[in-house]
Amino acid sequence: MILGISGTPGTGKTVVGKIVAERLGVPYIDLSSLVKRKKLHSGMDKKRGSFVVSRQKLLKEFKRLKQLHEDLVVEGHFVEEVHPDTTVVLRCRPDVLEKRLKRREYPFRKIRENVLAEILDVCSVNAGSSIEIETHNRSPKEAAKLVERIWQGKKPKLRQVSYFSYLPAFLKKKHC
Ligand SMILES: Nc1ncnc2c1ncn2[C@@H]1O[C@H](COP(=O)(O)OP(=O)(O)OP(=O)(O)O)[C@@H](O)[C@H]1O
Ligand SMILES: [Mg+2]
Repeated sequence: MILGISGTPGTGKTVVGKIVAERLGVPYIDLSSLVKRKKLHSGMDKKRGSFVVSRQKLLKEFKRLKQLHEDLVVEGHFVEEVHPDTTVVLRCRPDVLEKRLKRREYPFRKIRENVLAEILDVCSVNAGSSIEIETHNRSPKEAAKLVERIWQGKKPKLRQVSYFSYLPAFLKKKHC
């Protein structure tokens, strides 16, 4: 099975994904690192300081990986590009996410863009997934155990996530 983990930057994909893959004994792929390492991009988005992923190159490389491994844990905020069998979306309360991203010393603009994306459910919508696990109120290990249960085909009871109530305060705030 190809298990996808999506989520806004800072929600915990890498931390949780690595624990899950280790517990399951399945290879782990971080799509952002893969794109950089294998140059699966078509240039730079200068405004954002990030690579523009080449869908074609990514799919070709992922097809190769799938031929080598039947089971994979793959994570990235654009994980839907590789069509996982099931996708879990990690979520984080916007105020907590803002603090996590500030700790990374991201530019103000990048923090705002990501916090807004989290409020607006962008990753869940893009992934077409309603399996959402919040990471602000549980440890990475607890989040990983829930992902593992989803891998096993179980349906853990999860709170329905909605951060829309954070939008008015977000729009009023001029600085993070
Ligand atoms: N329950 C949790 N699950 C995951 N991360 C958590 C949790 N609680 C706190 N954190 C912290 O949140 C941060 C998440 O960082 P991480 O690099 O895993 O995010 P990411 O989604 O992979 O971001 P990016 O898309 O930029 O790679 C870490 O500092 C981690 O310690
Ligand atoms: Mg990461």
